[in-house]
Amino acid sequence: MSRDAPVGVFDSGMGGLAVAACIARDLPSESILYLGDVEHRPFGPRTAAEVAEYARAAEAFFQAQGAKAMVIACNTASVVADRLRGLLPVVEMVGPAVAAAAELRPRSIAVLGTSGTVASGVYQRALAAALPGTPVVARACECALRLAERGGGDDQALLERRLGECLEAVVGYDVAILACTDFTCVRATLDRVNAGRLRLLDPAEAVAAQLRRLLEGRGLLSASTRPRHRFCVTAPEPAFPAIGRGRFRLPVEMVELVRTEVRT
Ligand code: DGL
Repeated sequence: MSRDAPVGVFDSGMGGLAVAACIARDLPSESILYLGDVEHRPFGPRTAAEVAEYARAAEAFFQAQGAKAMVIACNTASVVADRLRGLLPVVEMVGPAVAAAAELRPRSIAVLGTSGTVASGVYQRALAAALPGTPVVARACECALRLAERGGGDDQALLERRLGECLEAVVGYDVAILACTDFTCVRATLDRVNAGRLRLLDPAEAVAAQLRRLLEGRGLLSASTRPRHRFCVTAPEPAFPAIGRGRFRLPVEMVELVRTEVRT
């Protein structure tokens, strides 16, 4: 495997661009092959078996494209990471997020994510193991996330109301893990609505750091001075270039339409 092979970054849509942006910033020699499975989003309300199949199809896609590792930049797919085929070394969201949360020494902790992420109980179990005795609550935020996944929509007041509902449900908790990458598409609004009440933890940086450790450990860290990024989607998403470039400062020049082999 070549050290200059790309890192595959997988999400259901555009939220994973937040993780891709962290990788581009913290590991600037790495080439990124981004895959947004727009055809099958949202993942949140789907069954674990469906999401696992989309993740396996992404894994096979990355392998066929010559990727050296896979980053699951999606919490809903991360909670089924144990169902991948093991074709590539994998970095998922939950482990790094929980480790980063533990470093904050929280008095209590909330997990805000999709219904699939919350229902899996994966975060709750990992937090109970890492922070025994610390109160944990997990809350599904589907309504807010449906707006967030496209950058918030046109109705700013509605977005603020929906985000406010998510936060109200966990008010009084100390730290909230943003356990859905789509929150990052509306982070400025979320911060305004939160107004400093909870410490919000975006796991993206911790995920990039975990990727560095994984690549270093396998002698796969690139030293390239000319990384090449590709951005792919499984169905058209007109907002992708604007969000990629504007919100995440990624060099999205072209978005490729690709197919993944999903077995139904
Ligand atoms: N962005 C994904 C996550 O981090 C999932 C959003 C969705 O497709 O429901 O959970």
